[in-house]
Amino acid sequence: MATLLELLTERLAAAFATVAGEAVDPVLRESQHADFQADGALPLAHRLGRPPREVAASVVEALEIDDLCSGVDVSGPGFINLTVSDSALDGLLTTMAGDDRLAIPVTEQPVRVIVDYSAPNVAKEMHVGHLRSTYIGDAAVRLLEFMGHDVVRENHIGDWGRPFGMLIEHLLDVGESEAAAEISIGDLDGFYKAANAKFDEDDSFAERSRQRVVLLQGGDEQTLVLWRTLIDASQRYFLSVYDRLNVRLTPDDFAGESSYNDQLDSVVDELEAAGLLRESDGAMCVFPEGFTNRDGDPLPLIVRNRVGGYGYAATDLATIRDRFCKLGADRILYVVGLPQQQHFEMVFQVAKEIGWYTADSEATHVGFGSILGDDGKMLRSRAGKSVKLIDLIDEAVDRARRAATEKNPDLDEAEAGLVATAVGVGATKFADLSTERTKDYVFDFDRMLAFDGHTAPYLQYANARIHSIFRKNEAGGSVVDDGAIVISEPAEHKLAIRLTEFATVVDEVSQSLDFHRLAHYLFDLASAFTTFYEHCPVLKADGDVRASRLSICRVTSRTLSQGLDLLGIDVLERM
Ligand code: ARG
Repeated sequence: MATLLELLTERLAAAFATVAGEAVDPVLRESQHADFQADGALPLAHRLGRPPREVAASVVEALEIDDLCSGVDVSGPGFINLTVSDSALDGLLTTMAGDDRLAIPVTEQPVRVIVDYSAPNVAKEMHVGHLRSTYIGDAAVRLLEFMGHDVVRENHIGDWGRPFGMLIEHLLDVGESEAAAEISIGDLDGFYKAANAKFDEDDSFAERSRQRVVLLQGGDEQTLVLWRTLIDASQRYFLSVYDRLNVRLTPDDFAGESSYNDQLDSVVDELEAAGLLRESDGAMCVFPEGFTNRDGDPLPLIVRNRVGGYGYAATDLATIRDRFCKLGADRILYVVGLPQQQHFEMVFQVAKEIGWYTADSEATHVGFGSILGDDGKMLRSRAGKSVKLIDLIDEAVDRARRAATEKNPDLDEAEAGLVATAVGVGATKFADLSTERTKDYVFDFDRMLAFDGHTAPYLQYANARIHSIFRKNEAGGSVVDDGAIVISEPAEHKLAIRLTEFATVVDEVSQSLDFHRLAHYLFDLASAFTTFYEHCPVLKADGDVRASRLSICRVTSRTLSQGLDLLGIDVLERM
């Protein structure tokens, strides 16, 4: 089914075409004055050399839109204002109410999307950058799956490289099972730092570590077993964090850097054959077009270093080739912090030059800003160390529990626990996803957990409030029948317009991955509901009006829940 915006655009486009004699974009948008406003008459008038208001009037003249709009007029320099008729909204909302996808169509062009996200590093603490990647990637996965795309999740963990020499030697010193236990309960930083300290202080340890790297790269069996121990323990820990956060990453989604090792040689061969490989200071490099340093010299992507070792760039080249050429990706999303932007742009450029992907597929770096402390600097613990992810989550949940029991002392233990988790975890997600992705934001417990403002608890509470209307209704022996919706009041009209926009927002965000738009939409929807509820009695109304308003409540609550679910945020019927 077409969305309201699409229906209006279609009609306007036909009228514009009649006036212009060719296709013209009506430039339709939401408006303060009416429901929508089309600005396309202005550029068209400029082209035709006619007064804009006159062109707008001709478009209105040619417009056939009576079944959708109750008012059409021209204002200002030539804007066309459209007021949607209540009866059109009745139809659209009744359709939403009767459809389990809220009338959101599944995409007509499903594609295979690979989402590369989370990607923490083995035997290293997850940091707040990984938190952002995990949240944004999880929202992308949920949204794209909901739209009907074929989504493949890849958790490209850092599980290879020079540090593994010292990590394995330290593992042997500590004792395998002890070390594994330490890591799987999440003391990764302690382990890594201890290994690093010995490497710096103890020459024989450093030498052992170097030899261990050689053994690892040479595929020595016993070394690989030890290496696997580190990976398994780390994965166990990562999975426990994902479980806590309710993100959809599973053991099957791990596709670490090491899994591309056996493709690295052939990447070099292919680059060589394509004439893209050049030697520079003893290293094998590609110089992707359009990248230069400050002096204007071409910038290298180092594929193999002087001593023959492969690094991050080589792995990412193998990875992108595998994803496009073997896994058949149409779209790849790399959800990684902005500091790695240039790295990815260079990798994409090389992949383009060698022909691993063409114009009908797409690789996108879904970059994001940093999480800051209240001093405006990178978030750190009081002791100046990096903050443990799970400590942040624990504190958010603790605070949510205190707030919930204060607000509602009758909550029993189990219910308080559910509320605390949904609100605490949800608050951290909403704070993240409601910020423009590329911006930094300050991590502020008080703000994200507030019951008013742009927060998860505000939206969760709005939804729970609607459910309390249903409970009262049921207690009175009546049910919501999701039947015909009839709009008559201005506050109903506004809420209905908002509800019909859900499909448009969801579609737009599935392209842009600007989740803050969905977050803001949900906030606006909850506000429109509050105004509706203030002006339009629901349970006190009679007959058809009562039934219609209960239906409106239900569509609103379902839209809020669906929208929050796409952001990975749980809702509750009671808080
Ligand atoms: N492990 C990396 C890090 O912690 C992120 C990997 C991102 N994905 C990729 N294909 N390079 O920064």
